[in-house]
Amino acid sequence: ATERTLSIIKPDAVAKNLIGAINSRFETAGLSIVAQKMLHLSQEQAEGFYAEHKERPFFAALVEFMTSGPVVVQVLEGENAIAKNREIMGATNPAEAAAGTLRHDFANSIDANAVHGSDAPASAEREIGYFFKSEEICPRG
Ligand code: CMP
Repeated sequence: ATERTLSIIKPDAVAKNLIGAINSRFETAGLSIVAQKMLHLSQEQAEGFYAEHKERPFFAALVEFMTSGPVVVQVLEGENAIAKNREIMGATNPAEAAAGTLRHDFANSIDANAVHGSDAPASAEREIGYFFKSEEICPRG
């Protein structure tokens, strides 16, 4: 089925001038970018986005990293977009990510891991709504 997923190009990848390279991987794989904007997240925005991780030991470091520089938030649309994006990204920890995935090729650590992608339909819906109004999303049809 056609799905949408929320993707974030994280501060490490933006700082390395990888926005275009990462977008090219998505488009080559058949995912369409149907919404996209650059933001420098506030502490409140990052904490709210990652609220489900609030009790995890890495939460403070995650919020600090995600507010350390600009990010690109985007909506990807396509057949099985959620799973397809997770394949393109690779494992959360770049040390475990398969060759040819974004995190293997572009990331340095589990914190600075280049990209975020929604992990399930319910989280995709919540995460897309966190950053985009419906009129900011332009379906490819
Ligand atoms: P992301 O997909 O953005 O979701 C939460 C982020 O927390 C994750 O990617 C990692 O960058 C970061 N993180 C740091 N440590 C861990 C950990 N031990 N397990 C999972 N995520 C972690």
